[in-house]
Amino acid sequence: MAACGGSGRQWQEEVAAVVVVGSCMTDLVSLTSRLPKTGETIHGHKFFIGFGGKGANQCVQAARLGAKTSMVCKVGKDSFGNDYIENLKQNDISTEFTYQTKDAATGTASIIVNSEVKTLFNPAPAIADLDPRFYTLSDVFCCNESEAEILTSLTISSPADAGKAALVLMERGCQVVVITLGAEGCVVVSQTEPVPKHIPTNKVKAVDTTGAGDSFVGALAFYLAYYPNLSLEEMLKRSNFIAAVSVQAAGTQASYPYKKDLLLDLF
Ligand SMILES: Nc1ncnc2c1ncn2[C@@H]1O[C@H](COP(=O)(O)OP(=O)(O)OP(=O)(O)O)[C@@H](O)[C@H]1O
Ligand SMILES: *[C@@H]1O[C@H](CO)[C@@H](O)[C@H](O)[C@H]1NC(C)=O
Ligand SMILES: *[C@@H]1O[C@H](CO)[C@@H](O)[C@H](O)[C@H]1NC(C)=O
Repeated sequence: MAACGGSGRQWQEEVAAVVVVGSCMTDLVSLTSRLPKTGETIHGHKFFIGFGGKGANQCVQAARLGAKTSMVCKVGKDSFGNDYIENLKQNDISTEFTYQTKDAATGTASIIVNSEVKTLFNPAPAIADLDPRFYTLSDVFCCNESEAEILTSLTISSPADAGKAALVLMERGCQVVVITLGAEGCVVVSQTEPVPKHIPTNKVKAVDTTGAGDSFVGALAFYLAYYPNLSLEEMLKRSNFIAAVSVQAAGTQASYPYKKDLLLDLF
């Protein structure tokens, strides 16, 4: 970074504090009374196109909280790809490293990096034989309950179970493990606080939980980048709160709150 030198303050302002490497997917959503049988054509009552993809979801949530973000991904060289790039721009996300290609979209695992090389890794979709370097190279390893089950082969049915799974992931070389537990909030364990801790949340009546995990990860990336002095526990409480807001409205990115809609004491 020092080698860039030059126009100090101005240059710094242009640098993204949250860089997301991950997927951008276009959701084509049809609402029907039932699923069609193989080969059958049925009437639907609504159709809409939504913006999804775990990487982009996380990036949008961080951007709406006020983070300077950049999305590193490839979309197709087609109208969906053009629209997606427009969606990123409308969310104030830098598309400098958003490429268009005729090849298939690349992976669905996402890595979030801030300028201090902190990395938050979200192993979605999880595979049991995940490359072991992902455990050692990420500063924060954050997954949901079912991903933790796949990675550890343990069954998780309580925060205490999640704590045990988190300890197994720690043994693989993680520095911090966070496992999200839906309405139960999350569990965290770290090298500095090696006893698993449950961070509960206020249960809310969920309207649509799709994308809650990405809202949580995006919020956590925002706090890691912009409020590095907060304790991890405080960051997780606030991320729980923001994800809870996202489950109270329909849609994925459509349900993600903006900074202006949230209580000031979250910032
Ligand atoms: N009913 C709820 N009430 C309050 N908070 C919730 C609720 N559901 C989810 N959350 C919040 O969202 C976070 C992520 O939820 P969850 O563990 O279900 O992630 P996920 O399974 O990856 O989500 P999804 O796959 O649906 O996007 C939780 O840690 C919690 O903070
Ligand atoms: C966890 O995330 C995966 C995506 O990797 C998703 O398929 C699964 O439904 C989520 N689990 C829960 C309990 O929501
Ligand atoms: C964060 O902590 C560092 C070192 O402890 C301190 O120098 C800095 O002023 C703090 N920043 C804020 C915003 O509190």
